Amino acid sequence: MFKLPAISFGTFQIAPNQTRAAVTAALQSGYRAVDTAYSYKNEAAVGQAIRQAGLTRDRVFVTSKAYINQLGFRETSAAIDQSLAALGLDYLDLYLIHMPFGDYYGAYRALLAAKKAGKVRAIGVANFDPARLADLGHHFGELPAVDQVEHHPFYQRSAEIAAIRKLGVTPQAWAPLAEGRHQLFTNSQLTAIAQAHGKTVAQVVLKWHQQLGLPLVVKSLSPNHLKDNLALDDFRLTALEMATIAKLDLGRPSLLDINSVAEVDRLYDYLDHPVVTTLAD
Ligand SMILES: NC(=O)c1ccc[n+]([C@@H]2O[C@H](COP(=O)([O-])OP(=O)(O)OC[C@H]3O[C@@H](n4cnc5c(N)ncnc54)[C@H](OP(=O)(O)O)[C@@H]3O)[C@@H](O)[C@H]2O)c1
Repeated sequence: MFKLPAISFGTFQIAPNQTRAAVTAALQSGYRAVDTAYSYKNEAAVGQAIRQAGLTRDRVFVTSKAYINQLGFRETSAAIDQSLAALGLDYLDLYLIHMPFGDYYGAYRALLAAKKAGKVRAIGVANFDPARLADLGHHFGELPAVDQVEHHPFYQRSAEIAAIRKLGVTPQAWAPLAEGRHQLFTNSQLTAIAQAHGKTVAQVVLKWHQQLGLPLVVKSLSPNHLKDNLALDDFRLTALEMATIAKLDLGRPSLLDINSVAEVDRLYDYLDHPVVTTLAD
């Protein structure tokens, strides 16, 4: 039975030359799931860190994703082989279609074939709305295992999360800390809750995700934050605190609005000017 780890280590916007150390630090802190993507340009370094960690392959859950320029049956089949080669792994635990653009039907067919061939253990998508998931289910007779979506206190999308779950798909939160947007780390209500528990704002927000039953992918380059983000078992938010956080919802994305034309244009432009390349320069 497929089970997504509760906490994965995210590697978006970690420059390739910093990634091996970052993933090594995460694995040493106790993370056992790592999320990368072709578009992050750091799969090779992620793979090096995992292979050098001294852990057997079955102890680390590895996710990667096909970007919008890798979609289509032939393209995505090649993309899976390319990611496996870059990572230096025989299989991926989870492979996602990064966004619902381009020929994602052909891509999904490639994912199904790769699963049958044992190259990926589970298949999923990211940034799909529930109606698109339902369509995949009807068209292919098999729903994705996971839908990885932007989710944090300022974008809670509770009806969508419920609809994703109702289909039997596991929603997974990306950017659970909203990348610090909207001054999340100094928000007065979150700070008051954190102080009441002797915890940090980040820990409160991650715990809130856990109490909502949402697996998450969080990134940190700080050794202290890495540890903090795993230290969530010694407290519990009250119903009132959960309700206080529920009220922070702004009802719109903070980071990725895939339903905006300008955003779609920006994402296609990104192919020519990848952010990570800029960071690595
Ligand atoms: N599927 C998709 O389309 C998609 C899109 C975006 C992201 N993702 C995945 O989701 C992962 C997480 O999202 P994200 O990296 O964008 O944002 P995030 O995890 O919400 O935020 C990362 C930021 O929070 C800070 N932080 C982390 N822990 C902290 C703590 N305990 N205290 C204070 N600050 C803390 C980090 O700084 P420090 O380094 O200083 O700790 C970093 O600046 C990505 O890395 C990627 O793997 C997927």
